Amino acid sequence: MRRTEGIRALFDIDPLPARRWCWPTFVVPGTGVEREIPSMPGQYNYSVDRLIPAVERVIRQGIGSVMVFGQADAPKDNGGSAAWCPHAPVQEAVRALKRAFPDLTVWTDVCLCAYTAHGHCAPLRPDGTPDNDAGCMALAKVALSHVEAGADGVAPSAMMDGQVRAIRSALDEAGFEERLLMAYSAKFASALYGPFRDAEGSAPVAVPGAPTDRRGYQASYANPDSAMLELVQDEAEGADILMVKPALFYLDMLRRAKERTLLPVAAYNVSGEYAMIHATARQGWGDLDDLARESLLALTRAGADLIISYWAPFYGRLFGKRR
Ligand code: PBG
Ligand code: ZN
Repeated sequence: MRRTEGIRALFDIDPLPARRWCWPTFVVPGTGVEREIPSMPGQYNYSVDRLIPAVERVIRQGIGSVMVFGQADAPKDNGGSAAWCPHAPVQEAVRALKRAFPDLTVWTDVCLCAYTAHGHCAPLRPDGTPDNDAGCMALAKVALSHVEAGADGVAPSAMMDGQVRAIRSALDEAGFEERLLMAYSAKFASALYGPFRDAEGSAPVAVPGAPTDRRGYQASYANPDSAMLELVQDEAEGADILMVKPALFYLDMLRRAKERTLLPVAAYNVSGEYAMIHATARQGWGDLDDLARESLLALTRAGADLIISYWAPFYGRLFGKRR
């Protein structure tokens, strides 16, 4: 059954088609900025004007959607208020993308950590503990500012309890009941987010009384049932799409999620997963494209309905142009 290329190809599955991939992008204030992120080779911080041609190149690979992450262009504060400014980089990027590519599906990440002075995903109370419910109210404002700019869907990643319900009802009340909500449901407190936090400047900062990591709100990788509960709750709160993140260390969760829900399940192939493969290849310990292909096919095998990945711009090189 494996003797020739032709026989093998008869029974091989295909990678998830490009239209079901999403490219995460990082927008920064200013113009003319296209700065490579040192820990993420081939990924850049773009100002809005430079983002457009970059996305155009990615669309030419057949990639179906992008997710916009941004940095603050105003001072960071305890509540992350720069996140819902209607003219911050994310909101401007969404407007520019929808103007340039009306048929492109544009998602935004909804969180506060790139906008709070302490780097947490919610405001801190005076004693330094993250304030879950104040976080939900702020996230609803951020999501609303994103859909007002034209986002097709919002993806809340703060892992605050009740964030899906809070955002869904805020969007519905404002007349955006048809915009999508992709919930980062099983988002684990992972060591794989380091390169992303470099790109975003969003790592927790040492503050008296405040936690130095996100284990108080992100899921524990040692408690898979509680991560499943997050998925079930997000579905009940009105999510349209559920996500497992990271992806490669959590293929079991991806498969369990697929078995438990009829909603589409997204796999977020995070920055550390991308950086690890680049680092290995740079050491000469493996071939870059072979490693990437093997890892990405694992996500397809596990059942991902949507792959959010920094490899999206390289889809054609890795898999040929298929749809
Ligand atoms: C912000 C956020 C993070 C990622 C997506 N949204 C980082 C974090 O939780 O610290 C990680 C993405 C990646 O590593 O590629 N809440
Ligand atoms: Zn966050």
